[in-house]
Amino acid sequence: MKIIKVASYEEMSAHAGQIIINKVKDHPSSILGLATGGTPLGTYRRIIEDHERNHTSYRDVSTINLDEYVGLNEDHPQSYHMYMKEHLFSQIDVQPQHTYLPDGTAKDLSKECQHYDQLIEKLGGIDLQLLGIGQNGHIGFNEPGTSFESRTHVIDLMESTRKANARYFSNVNEVPHHAITMGIRSIVESKEILLLASGKKKSSALSRLLEGNVTEEFPASILTRHPQVTLIADEAALSKS
Ligand code: GLP
Repeated sequence: MKIIKVASYEEMSAHAGQIIINKVKDHPSSILGLATGGTPLGTYRRIIEDHERNHTSYRDVSTINLDEYVGLNEDHPQSYHMYMKEHLFSQIDVQPQHTYLPDGTAKDLSKECQHYDQLIEKLGGIDLQLLGIGQNGHIGFNEPGTSFESRTHVIDLMESTRKANARYFSNVNEVPHHAITMGIRSIVESKEILLLASGKKKSSALSRLLEGNVTEEFPASILTRHPQVTLIADEAALSKS
């Protein structure tokens, strides 16, 4: 794992944004795996700024997101569909029909999971996957205990994860109990992975990750076996490592 230590959230975002921009410039029809949460917001802002200033085009890019809450439709303000529209898709020239997220309102969720796996396959896999990390080591919404062999599936969210994400909702009771997430196997099949972490809250997770003990009890640990992972983290996030 290549580790880039930076001073701040802004520096992390600038670095990550530039890696994605360069990827798209070199390979205009890249398949980008995208993430939500607070961590990638600054990265998306960099991409938008560059798009406005330098006109980097996303016309031929396809994007595939990690996850979506079960039960929230795409117009729900806290859905990841809405997050992506608001914070990225509506501000660059990516074609809406080339942006994919799991449908958390599908009647048959297991069919939706299969469909999502087929989609990843049809796209030819993910060229660059952007990832955040949960305080408990989750990636996407793959909670501790998820099999490293998992494909897209429905997961019961842990109370700690629901609490950590409650800040986006009016209260914790509104946070859905389930989500559809890309599986760990699909994530690690990405050709390249960009893992971001910022702030003290992530320091325990990063120190556990960097200890290098690979276990399903700490999903992100599998990333230490991937040949092309870059971790960009700020000093606060690396303060326990
Ligand atoms: C959520 C998302 C993850 C994200 C994690 C960390 O649960 N499903 O993809 O990496 O939380 O979020 P944040 O970046 O807000 O700390």
